[in-house]
Amino acid sequence: MSLRNILPALALLSLVSASDALAHGDGAPQPVDTSGLEPLGEEWVATNPYRNNPKLHDIAVEIGSRGYNSNCARCHGLEVKSGGMAPDLRELGESETEDAWFLSRVLQGATVGGRQKMPPFEGLLNQEAIWAIRTYIDAQPE
Ligand code: HEC
Repeated sequence: MSLRNILPALALLSLVSASDALAHGDGAPQPVDTSGLEPLGEEWVATNPYRNNPKLHDIAVEIGSRGYNSNCARCHGLEVKSGGMAPDLRELGESETEDAWFLSRVLQGATVGGRQKMPPFEGLLNQEAIWAIRTYIDAQPE
């Protein structure tokens, strides 16, 4: 999807979700400060690099908590407890396939039957932020 397609979609989304936004902060995507996590480089890594990293795991959870709450909670629920509006992300397993699925969903968002149900985060969140969010989600009790 090009930027030209994304912008009107985002504008529309912010109108549609204006009332919902009042409950969970404004709907605009928020950049996430990832300092404290070493840069992962230009290439997208295919699996969560923080899951089995004792040094960075807890830092990732903390950064991911901020990233999740400012970008995902308004649909997927506070503390990742879904209120039914979007899937409960705690149910996604921790396999490589599910990592790949998570990454592609977050980058591309979700459009179902021509309606955008989740905005794409490509160009808005870097991969350190996306994997930190994944680490935070996985750290929540089911
Ligand atoms: C505007 C609401 C909204 C926002 C904001 C949003 N999502 Fe979603 N998300 C959805 C909906 C709705 C779906 C289900 C789409 C479908 O029907 O396929 C979804 C699906 C997903 C899936 C696939 C889940 C599965 O079980 O297949 C993942 C992963 C995901 N979102 C992660 C995120 C993350 C991470 C963020 C924040 C960076 C986020 N979403 C922000 C609404 C949202």
